[in-house]
Amino acid sequence: MIEILNVDHFCQAVPDLEKQSDFLQKVLGLLPSKISHQTDFDNQVLSIPGNSKLGWELMSPNTNKSFLHRFLDGPRGPGLHHLTMRVQSIEKTKNQLIELGYEPWGAEGNVVYLHPQKGGQGFLFQFYEANDEDVWYDTEPFTDNEKNTIGIKSVDHIAHAHKNVSGLVDWYQKTFGFSPYNGDSDNTSSGEEFKIGLLQLPSKQLKIEIIAPAHPESFVQKFLNERDTSVHHLTLEVEDWDRATAALDFHGIRTFGERSNVGAESLWHEAFIHPKETGGVLLQIFWQAKPGLWE
Ligand SMILES: [Fe+2]
Ligand SMILES: [Fe+2]
Repeated sequence: MIEILNVDHFCQAVPDLEKQSDFLQKVLGLLPSKISHQTDFDNQVLSIPGNSKLGWELMSPNTNKSFLHRFLDGPRGPGLHHLTMRVQSIEKTKNQLIELGYEPWGAEGNVVYLHPQKGGQGFLFQFYEANDEDVWYDTEPFTDNEKNTIGIKSVDHIAHAHKNVSGLVDWYQKTFGFSPYNGDSDNTSSGEEFKIGLLQLPSKQLKIEIIAPAHPESFVQKFLNERDTSVHHLTLEVEDWDRATAALDFHGIRTFGERSNVGAESLWHEAFIHPKETGGVLLQIFWQAKPGLWE
């Protein structure tokens, strides 16, 4: 098992970095750092408001030959490209990958990867070693007080679509030591369209949700047919529902799949924003009157 200290950031690969950065800042309220120019790509890390202490990196190709074109033109692009986690020791992580039966990929300096097609379950996992003074993304929780932004409170979860819920739940437990949410030994449930498993990270920054089709016509099956196993959506909790929906209206961004639970004590709302509007990531936003109501 790979011992994870915390999640540092996730990264979205897009064709146009500045356009996407504009969306993340003006609509989602993220705070930018400066854009860096690498040999094959440009990148920028933005800070996500709220209490998750997570960075949102953007990458886009800056040459015709950039390796990112393969991702962007492939079935999973544009969209979430990798998830970066901090580990105590990169040497230990390489050995742990080998013990798990995977080839440590792209090892260089204090970094190593688990490749999407070589064990990563359709998603690229990056590990890096840092001492406490040299953490890549290191921002304290903060509140978004800007105008016309949705007001993110936290990143609730990343949903990973897979054909087999318990298979992928086991994989996350065995590979990273993530535990079933709420301590349930199984913690999988089944709806009409899909089956769900929920995992908590030791750092409690976010959850990983596993979704699998409940029947062959399920939208999850359609997603798997098109994109194969990979990240399906990203879910954000907002501070204030009226503020979030007013911000989306202001920017002319449509939502769909709105649902609410009624009752003053049990009130929650949720809605989705189509990947076409968000640079390739299906976004779910929700608000709840108190913690634990919406799940
Ligand atoms: Fe990254
Ligand atoms: Fe979800």
